[in-house]
Amino acid sequence: MTTLTATPDAIKQAAAILRAGGLVAFPTETVYGLGADATNGFAVAALYSAKGRPSFNPLIVHVPETAAAAAVATMTPLAQTLADAFWPGPLTLVLARRSNRIIADLATAGLDTVAVRVPAHPIAQALLRAADLPVAAPSANRSGHVSPTLAAHVATDLGLHVQLILDGGATRIGLESTVLDATGTDPVVLRLGAVTGEDIARITGRPVILAAGENDTAPVSPGMLTRHYAPNTRLRLDIHNVRAGEALLAFGPDLPSHAGPMFNLSPAGDLAEAAANLFAALRDLDASGAAAIAVMPIPAHGLGAAINDRLTRAARAA
Ligand code: TXA
Ligand code: MG
Repeated sequence: MTTLTATPDAIKQAAAILRAGGLVAFPTETVYGLGADATNGFAVAALYSAKGRPSFNPLIVHVPETAAAAAVATMTPLAQTLADAFWPGPLTLVLARRSNRIIADLATAGLDTVAVRVPAHPIAQALLRAADLPVAAPSANRSGHVSPTLAAHVATDLGLHVQLILDGGATRIGLESTVLDATGTDPVVLRLGAVTGEDIARITGRPVILAAGENDTAPVSPGMLTRHYAPNTRLRLDIHNVRAGEALLAFGPDLPSHAGPMFNLSPAGDLAEAAANLFAALRDLDASGAAAIAVMPIPAHGLGAAINDRLTRAARAA
């Protein structure tokens, strides 16, 4: 495994590895992804094995522009509206798969739908254009771990399994993309994420449905797996009083009294800053040796909905 600063030359090397069926980790504006050629079933198989991911969990196919999405999936009018507003950006659309079978069956886990996303990050954009392939890329962590927001997180989780890590620094958003079923006329959110329900309602003028059906055996979207995004240390949520021996995951300017390890997601109480810090904070506090992580209340509006979703999953006992 090599980590390289994402210079044009390193991006060229990464594209060659992808074209040869290898695995490359790269930054997107949300989190780091572990990429493989989505048209190559062997490359996708290597990707599942590197992540230790259950094979029923389908992958997001990354493309550089809407036209490339339309080549692998059927764009509905709803999808077109959303693509015009949010692509490139942190929105994943689940659409009917085209019958041309360009995408390997394994990448969609045999579903007749495919999840597609046009990332905005310049390094992701350059890599997708240089590889000239649709790239299947889950978050570049071991399955069930916290998503990586730094190249070093990828190296810790997947070091032995990835040929090249393109280092583009900390990811800007720090929370995964919103996954949205756009096969019908009303948007159905399958995974809360960086694009808020409020934004989707505003752009589409339609009611936003939040898929329930959280079920570990047959998930609507496996991002809904009950236990996911899990540190090893137990989390206690909505905490105002921290116990001795606990670490504190704080939010905002008004802190409870506390002496041990602490990470403030946003001293100013800014939800975008909190989202960007969330996964690194969980990793830090998980490594602190604390008996548990006490989490202060996070407001539920805007990005707070997705942050609370991740924290709730992380807090559930195995
Ligand atoms: O921000 C992100 O979305 C990152 C970056 C790398 O793009 N990727 C990411 O991928 O989070 P992953 O594999 O960790 O999560 C993909 C989510 C899962 O919840 C999966 O179940 C859902 O997308 N998904 C993929 N294909 C689907 C499909 N055909 N139908 C329903 N859900 C699907
Ligand atoms: Mg993931």
